Amino acid sequence: MSTTLDGQTAVVTGSSSGIGFGIAQEFTAQGANVVVNSRSQTRANDAAEEITAETGTVTPIEADVTDVDAMQALVDRTVSEFGSVDVWVNNAGINIRGPVEEMSVDDWQRVIDVNLTGTFIGAKLAGTQMIAQDSGGSIINISSMMGEQGQTGRTPYNTSKGGVNNLTRCLAVEWAEHDVYVNAIAPGYIRTEMVDDAQDEIGFEEADVIDRTPLGRFGTVEEVANCATFLAEANHFMTGEILHPDGGWLSFGWGSKS
Ligand SMILES: NC(=O)c1ccc[n+]([C@@H]2O[C@H](COP(=O)([O-])OP(=O)(O)OC[C@H]3O[C@@H](n4cnc5c(N)ncnc54)[C@H](OP(=O)(O)O)[C@@H]3O)[C@@H](O)[C@H]2O)c1
Repeated sequence: MSTTLDGQTAVVTGSSSGIGFGIAQEFTAQGANVVVNSRSQTRANDAAEEITAETGTVTPIEADVTDVDAMQALVDRTVSEFGSVDVWVNNAGINIRGPVEEMSVDDWQRVIDVNLTGTFIGAKLAGTQMIAQDSGGSIINISSMMGEQGQTGRTPYNTSKGGVNNLTRCLAVEWAEHDVYVNAIAPGYIRTEMVDDAQDEIGFEEADVIDRTPLGRFGTVEEVANCATFLAEANHFMTGEILHPDGGWLSFGWGSKS
């Protein structure tokens, strides 16, 4: 039986846990050759073992998304193993929270480096490879609904994701002539290690998130992975778009939900 991504080769950065892991698993189920990635070879191996046991074989490669040479080596190894890079997901992300008055410039820079510059590096290397292949491709940047909102204590993160949104639009325009589609997914609250950390650190109430969300719940990793599969197929007239699997959060202004 043929599946949606049969014969495609996909790289998912930061796929040792959470949303990236879910996307890697779903792409594998859809028939793609998938490369999982982490800053640690052990964590990449563990994720690969789990996906391989449950869904299908994947290849684990260690690389920090801020390290251009390591990322180029990841691209080269993918091409030597599978012959091409057809789908690339820039998913790796971090958050460092705190009031701006107390935040060091190093902490600001670290978040911008991983979330925004890391996405630029991944897109640049993948896009260059896709253009050389001359068969198009799909680049998917994992942003956040917070890229369009202000919040206290999250200035570097929200700013980095706003940058990812406009990076997505710029690359979509620049690479349209090569049939390289560039889109973003900007999720709302999805239960992962990142959200667990935020809850431990700043103690937000789960009930408040649920109450603020028109659909009345957290989203799931599987729901974000479904958006990624849709964008990976590239059989739509859509580039430079930002999808919001956020349960209606951004559509809700103020007042009663019913
Ligand atoms: N969860 C949410 O509610 C939510 C909402 C909107 C957007 N997002 C976005 O979704 C993406 C995934 O987040 P998540 O919630 O799934 O968090 P997570 O479980 O903490 O996953 C983050 C992933 O990024 C990897 N990573 C971090 N820094 C890296 C680096 N420098 N190089 C390579 N990999 C790196 C981590 O791998 P290692 O630690 O193994 O290196 C891990 O696999 C992020 O971009 C996040 O901003 C999440």
